[in-house]
Amino acid sequence: MIPLRQLPALLILMAASALAAEVADPNVGVDTSTLPPIGATVEGNPYRNLPAAIAIGREAYNQACARCHGIDGNHKGQVGLPLLRMDRACGPIADPAIKAMCLRDNDDFFMKSVQNGKTRVGIVHMPAWKDILQPEAIWAIRSFLESRKR
Ligand code: HEC
Repeated sequence: MIPLRQLPALLILMAASALAAEVADPNVGVDTSTLPPIGATVEGNPYRNLPAAIAIGREAYNQACARCHGIDGNHKGQVGLPLLRMDRACGPIADPAIKAMCLRDNDDFFMKSVQNGKTRVGIVHMPAWKDILQPEAIWAIRSFLESRKR
């Protein structure tokens, strides 16, 4: 029998382990074979503004990400962060070269976030997708979100 005064701690532990069990859905399937192939060391999103990538990215996003970040990126109180405003700091930058660097930085952050997920103090807040989504699929998702950014 668990003493009653330990119940809150137990509940926290159970909630934490439910989160820790968060895994990337292995049934997510994304076909990127129609997109131009990318090299191993691509720098920045190679599919920015490409309609075919945006369409594939939308489908992939809604399969893999929407449950935590909102359908089509429309964040409505789900556990994940809003993703449509990720680039808002780059928007007002007038110098095209600096603006491009700002987006590149966000590209990098986006790719790493999705590939490795987010684990804090041992709790998985977002699962790692690197075994399920190829870089092509992740760039396609980024292209879709960028096409909808506010
Ligand atoms: C199980 C829920 C869950 C799923 C599924 C999920 N995420 Fe997340 N994601 C989160 C949470 C929670 C955070 C915030 C974590 C933190 O910063 O500690 C986050 C953070 C992020 C960030 C960083 C955002 C920022 O501004 O710091 C990106 C980018 C991201 N997710 C993209 C995605 C993409 C793309 C997918 C689909 C491939 C996805 N996520 C699937 C829960 C999820």
